[in-house]
Amino acid sequence: MILTISLNPAIDKTAICERLMPGQLNRLSGIQICPGGKGINVSRALNCLGEKVCAMGFIGGGNGEYIKKELEKSGIRTAFTNTGRGTRINLNVISEDGFVTEILEPGPAPDVLCIEDFLGKYKKELKKTSLVVISGSLPEGMDNGFYAKLITMAAEEKKRVILDSSGEPERCGVEAIPYMIKPNLREFEYILGRHFYEPEDIARAAGELVRRGIERVAVSLGSRGMVYVTPEVSLYAQAPRLNAINTVSCGDAAVAGFAYSLVRNLKDEEALIKAVAVSAAAALSQESGLFLPDDESRFAGRITVSECT
Ligand SMILES: Nc1ncnc2c1ncn2[C@@H]1O[C@H](COP(=O)(O)OP(=O)(O)OP(=O)(O)O)[C@@H](O)[C@H]1O
Ligand SMILES: [Mg+2]
Repeated sequence: MILTISLNPAIDKTAICERLMPGQLNRLSGIQICPGGKGINVSRALNCLGEKVCAMGFIGGGNGEYIKKELEKSGIRTAFTNTGRGTRINLNVISEDGFVTEILEPGPAPDVLCIEDFLGKYKKELKKTSLVVISGSLPEGMDNGFYAKLITMAAEEKKRVILDSSGEPERCGVEAIPYMIKPNLREFEYILGRHFYEPEDIARAAGELVRRGIERVAVSLGSRGMVYVTPEVSLYAQAPRLNAINTVSCGDAAVAGFAYSLVRNLKDEEALIKAVAVSAAAALSQESGLFLPDDESRFAGRITVSECT
């Protein structure tokens, strides 16, 4: 069983309008909602891969109940802490002139009792899990070192953690040496405080983190593909060419591909191909976290992997 942590989940609301005009009345149509937030996307993608998942974190109000029910309906176990404070809605407006505008609410801050409740449940769930995936941002007001604390608690139980966050929570988390990280290029540059472009330079810098003790560093480069460095290998996979429908959450699909590969002991190169194939399939799916297994297997045969020198 893989445990996913979503401290700041959301309902993703996608709407369509002709043209979004600031300062004007905008009427939306074609509204669709689905459970969202990075950890939730990872849970749903793992579920598509046939892995047993338990999703935990903070939810609140009717929006939170909706997320819990939708996950449970698809067969995902949940162990959320109810904060009593409404889970946020993230609005994604697709306008017919081609622009996509994301409007993200901040997440409500959980109080001390909720944090204690979460930590109690986390301790219990850690015993039952083979791998922990920590994804996404922290709700407002939470300590930037919170993910580092979760990584240390997992290490005490000898459980591996994949961390995929951003900014300070990610940087502090990296200091606690998780088993694996999957930053995109921007997040990777933030961790190291320098800019990169070529896969070889990225791989060399990822090697610095591997030498600090992070066993697996995957840096995702959007449509360019992914760099993957472990103590044994330094690889670059080109992403397959495709006409993307929705690339938001491709990184979450990649994390699910790696989590699957870790619990199934796939070899490094196979794990990288799995992650790139799942994330390519996710780019063809409108709804975050979902993809068609047929797309994944079709892409898996078309991914080229080379060594970074
Ligand atoms: N246009 C695309 N075509 C093919 N593959 C893509 C495309 N965009 C993304 N991918 C695949 O998805 C992986 C992750 O994408 P990206 O680097 O954008 O992640 P991310 O920024 O973490 O995304 P998010 O946080 O929204 O999930 C890439 O490494 C690549 O393999
Ligand atoms: Mg990401």
